[in-house]
Amino acid sequence: MSRKPIIAGNWKMNKNLKEVFAFMAEIDGKLPSEDKVEVAIAAPAMYLVPLVHHRGKNPLKVAAENVYFENAGAFTGEISPAMLAAEGIEYSVIGHSERREYFHETDEDINKKAKALIAAGVTPILCCGETLETFEAGKTAEWVSAQIEAGLAGIDAADVAKLVIAYEPIWAIGTGKTATAEIADETCGVVRSTVEKLYGKEVSDAVRIQYGGSVKPETVAELMSKENIDGALVGGAALEAASFLGLLEIY
Ligand code: G3P
Repeated sequence: MSRKPIIAGNWKMNKNLKEVFAFMAEIDGKLPSEDKVEVAIAAPAMYLVPLVHHRGKNPLKVAAENVYFENAGAFTGEISPAMLAAEGIEYSVIGHSERREYFHETDEDINKKAKALIAAGVTPILCCGETLETFEAGKTAEWVSAQIEAGLAGIDAADVAKLVIAYEPIWAIGTGKTATAEIADETCGVVRSTVEKLYGKEVSDAVRIQYGGSVKPETVAELMSKENIDGALVGGAALEAASFLGLLEIY
């Protein structure tokens, strides 16, 4: 099954506008063809519009790092799926482990966000992943399956086929300890088989699954060679233009 790979950077709470423009200037004209790989940047809300309007001829997609599940109203500090769609922003990361941990987001919150994004025409990048304790207890598969089942509840097959799922073992995020390509492929395989159980093989073959957790230019090729891995969601190595471009040298 050929699925177009998607490599996305997640800047998290980093950069200022000057650094955003410098990054864009450094990658200008250097991204690989969109026929080979889809490239995206997830940025803090304040930089989404400049990224969209300054991507020029680069085949760069833009993603929010989070979103609320209402489209307008008295939700101070939030941005909505409708706002993203109005600016031509293609994706939104939802359910990142840092949102779940620091901002106490539940599977139910994340499911509502997925539905609101799909209704607005914005593609969710739905994150899942386990703690080191869960991993060491051998309970990763059941943990991740439960997150996917809850996150996709009530979403129809055609929409699930189009979204992206990011498996990010919490113990590999920001630690420099990338999961081995075998572990990453095995758990991305659990994600895919969970989708197959819920929606059938046609949908599970279509859905794209990223790995995230200390992905570097040195490790991306082996990860992307794995059957169940269709991309990467990258934090630290996506902050500097040179290493971000290094992640894409394989295309
Ligand atoms: O969303 C991607 C992020 O959680 C991974 O961060 O720094 O381990 O690549 P990093």
